[in-house]
Amino acid sequence: MEKYKIAVIPGDGIGTEVIAEGVKVLEKIAHIDGSFAFSFDYFPWGCEYYCKTGKVMDDDGLERLSKFDAIYLGAVGAPNVPDHISLRDLLIKIRQGFDQYVNLRPVKLLAGAPCPIKNINREDINMVVIRENSEGEYAGAGDWLYKGKEQEVVLQTSVFSRKGTERIIRYAYELARHENKTITSISKGNALNYSMVFWDEVFSEVGKEYPDVKQYTYLVDAAAMFFVKDPARFQVVVTSNLFGDILTDLGAAIAGGMGLAAGANINPEKKYPSMFEPIHGSAPDIAGKGIANPMASIWSAAQMLEFFGKKEWSNKIIRAIEKVLTEKTVLTADFGGKASTKAVGEEIIRQLSLLC
Ligand SMILES: NC(=O)c1ccc[n+]([C@@H]2O[C@H](COP(=O)([O-])OP(=O)(O)OC[C@H]3O[C@@H](n4cnc5c(N)ncnc54)[C@H](O)[C@@H]3O)[C@@H](O)[C@H]2O)c1
Repeated sequence: MEKYKIAVIPGDGIGTEVIAEGVKVLEKIAHIDGSFAFSFDYFPWGCEYYCKTGKVMDDDGLERLSKFDAIYLGAVGAPNVPDHISLRDLLIKIRQGFDQYVNLRPVKLLAGAPCPIKNINREDINMVVIRENSEGEYAGAGDWLYKGKEQEVVLQTSVFSRKGTERIIRYAYELARHENKTITSISKGNALNYSMVFWDEVFSEVGKEYPDVKQYTYLVDAAAMFFVKDPARFQVVVTSNLFGDILTDLGAAIAGGMGLAAGANINPEKKYPSMFEPIHGSAPDIAGKGIANPMASIWSAAQMLEFFGKKEWSNKIIRAIEKVLTEKTVLTADFGGKASTKAVGEEIIRQLSLLC
């Protein structure tokens, strides 16, 4: 029997609540399928851990995580810990340390999901955003000079290496070719005259190897407008770390909201474990109430199954979520319902069982 070792980092706030439901879904699937199993090892890292120990993650964290097949993460962040500490010392440390250079975020309006855009055809919102995840604007390069003095200066340097830029763009081209879709590069070459001019050049150079893939380029400001006005333009999108971060929250807003937005941080070479997570944060405003929507974390579990080559199970999870969304009887408050996180998780498992 195949066995997948999963490192679970529930994190803070609603992270712990939604991840519990995702784990139950994975366990249920392994039980129904019978040909594979999961083992789950839990790590208590996050802001609460930081308050107790002074560390968001243990010093040997990456070494311990490297033994797993995948990482399943809830969310990190708490009002009493500066966000740049929790983000950099856990999330970005894992993404960069494990060279998870692909951040794959589906923006797809599922059947039954609410959409704030009027008169939209559901199938017009169906793209996948490939966000560069290892360098760019989030490389962490810079300096803070003359702190507190009159001549204070801060530098935040974007890093775009040829290797890093080429590999993410190539990944997106391969995906577009494989799925017979168009590709759109989103950049800002008119204002960022080094990094984004370089990005555009690499996109065009690599594109010569993919004459069969229809290619588009947009400035990020125009792209943000078209995400809302005409999302059907986008199928496979490739963009930088910062732009991808922002655009995928916009993508979440047009495709059901933060409770329904999943993301995978992938090391395609499988040299290191990949990490799967809902893209939302720890939501301190609703944490501890048991009312968070677990659909995003369950969708990210579906991404994990797809990564393990179990596409059929991944599709079944999405269909089960769609069933719950269309029946509208068991929904959390963000979708106008009164159900708890747990009840929605149980309902998705029930629908999953009916599909089998
Ligand atoms: N990947 C991560 O771990 C991650 C991502 C984003 C933010 N954060 C951190 O999370 C904390 C809160 O950040 P924020 O408030 O900007 O973003 P957030 O995503 O936590 O919340 C934004 C809004 O969306 C709602 N929301 C989010 N997820 C939901 C869900 N599953 N169900 C229902 N409603 C949901 C929240 O209630 C809130 O109103 C901060 O400390 C931030 O740094 C972490």
